[in-house]
Amino acid sequence: MCGIIGYVGSRPCEELILGGLERLEYRGYDSAGMVLIDDSGFTTVRAVGNLAELRKAAAGSTSTATAGMGHTRWATHGRVTEANAHPHADASGRISVVMNGIIENYARLRSALQDEGVVFLSETDTEVIPHLIAKHYAGDLVQAVRAVIGELEGHFAFVAASADEPGRLVAARRECPMVVGVGEGELFIASAIPAFLPETRETLEIETGEIVVLEAGAITILDGDTVVSRDPATVDWDADAAEKGGFDTFMLKEIHEQPDALNDTIGDRLARDGTVTLDGIGLDDAALARVERIHIVACGTSFHAGLVGRYLIEDWARIPVHVEVASEYRYRTCLAGPGDLVIGITQSGETADTLAAMRVARERGAHVVALTNIMGSQAVRDADGVLYTRAGLEIGVAATKTHVAQVMALALLALKLGQVRHTLTGSGVADLGEDIRRLPGLVADYLASPAADAAIAAGEKYAERPFFLYLGRHVGMPVSYEGALKLKEISYVPTEAYPAGEMKHGPIALLDDGSPVVVVATDGHVFDKVVSNIQEVRARGAQVIAVATEGNEEIAEHADDVLFVPRTLPLLSSVLAVVPLQLFAYAVARARGLNVDQPRNLAKTVTVE
Ligand code: AGP
Repeated sequence: MCGIIGYVGSRPCEELILGGLERLEYRGYDSAGMVLIDDSGFTTVRAVGNLAELRKAAAGSTSTATAGMGHTRWATHGRVTEANAHPHADASGRISVVMNGIIENYARLRSALQDEGVVFLSETDTEVIPHLIAKHYAGDLVQAVRAVIGELEGHFAFVAASADEPGRLVAARRECPMVVGVGEGELFIASAIPAFLPETRETLEIETGEIVVLEAGAITILDGDTVVSRDPATVDWDADAAEKGGFDTFMLKEIHEQPDALNDTIGDRLARDGTVTLDGIGLDDAALARVERIHIVACGTSFHAGLVGRYLIEDWARIPVHVEVASEYRYRTCLAGPGDLVIGITQSGETADTLAAMRVARERGAHVVALTNIMGSQAVRDADGVLYTRAGLEIGVAATKTHVAQVMALALLALKLGQVRHTLTGSGVADLGEDIRRLPGLVADYLASPAADAAIAAGEKYAERPFFLYLGRHVGMPVSYEGALKLKEISYVPTEAYPAGEMKHGPIALLDDGSPVVVVATDGHVFDKVVSNIQEVRARGAQVIAVATEGNEEIAEHADDVLFVPRTLPLLSSVLAVVPLQLFAYAVARARGLNVDQPRNLAKTVTVE
């Protein structure tokens, strides 16, 4: 989830680009770069670190260029180095590109280009684009970009420039966001509106699949060969709202970014036949097949993702999985050893207890893999291998998109283990791959549906209640834990989360007339058992808010409010079932007038024990 900005106009644009990148820094800040374009060609500056570093690298510039583009990077392919920072150029240095997204078939494209003699200077997926454009370039950047898009798989938004056509930028988008800002005789193109908001409020949305040609004062939008006519719209957001993409909080924005987080985490790892490739974990297929036990260590929301992962791995790969909060694991007698795989899940990659638990296991000779969202973080440095989620930067303290991305990464690992251990048949692998691939779309459908509004409305309805009990069974159990954690951390309402079957061994005593009980009751082999638990709590006067599978007509008889989610494989249902609970928690906190992005006493990264 990088940030891009481009400018074509009559003003010297260096400061416009740097300012725009500063406003996009929330999208990624591990390195940045820009290219300024004039009749003498390109001037490219790149730097590792935040925008202040790019400013330092550009200090003393006297550029009067009136076209250019910039990029702030959130690394997905390739380490955080200056060579991997954007823009990237072709071999002649006459084509320059900045990109946000993932090119899923870049490895294939890269090796085909290398066979033709192309030398790559970075480890990024992006670099294939300028080389491909150069290959197709015959004096018209639009034609070359059009040809290249046909060769790219994945989702992306990129802007390209040719030194032979100064004053012209050509951009293309597939799924990743891109918007044009229309000024007086000048045009901006960016990943998000804040990049150009101080300069213009006139915006033009670009649809997926379109190509945009920007020249001073003239914009052409192309859908294939057809020129599309579209009027600009005026945004009335202030800068703060714009940074949140029009949502009123980062948390809500990040909830809506979950389809992208899931898609990006799948990226190029899942082939059409279900084959999974997990570069970086430090174990080849033979070594993976020999894994005897898996330990998962994590804290908070990451721990809940680990609990979901246990069901997936044990079912698909038949390996025993032990999941434990890291702060306990680190002080127990650690029995992990050679032959065991230990996975430390930490979105930040810096959580002290998780790092310590990983260290303990590593000292015992286990193979330790960091499952993290942050490239180059301490967890990566301390581990034998890494499995990245690609959720983009998460700003809200309450983890949302990183959680579903963690579950997705674990689902891919479980599928991979099932393949190498032959616990899944060929068609089973392909079917599961297809179910996994459908998840991002199902989450997107849900978020755009009235069902998502119903989850918000339910939160508002119950907002003043002093206590909530959350129940779930099987894979619904960690979902209930996560729903309860979301609610307590941002609304400060006491919650208790319990395995539904265990409820009658204690927590049932908490219930009284009207006590709200949130039950994860999605379809699956324990559905009837969950219904029995619902009846038990209702018999004590509790009001039930059930998360259930679309099309389940029976549940309405048992619940006061039903939050429906799209149907998927029961084992994958946590990715969907958690979303209404995020929205529910969000709505309770908002109704109570609380700051959901920065709840009291909590830090996004807990670097102390
Ligand atoms: C999640 O909403 C919480 N803020 C918290 O529980 C968090 O998941 C935990 O601190 C672990 O963080 P990590 O994933 O960065 O290690």
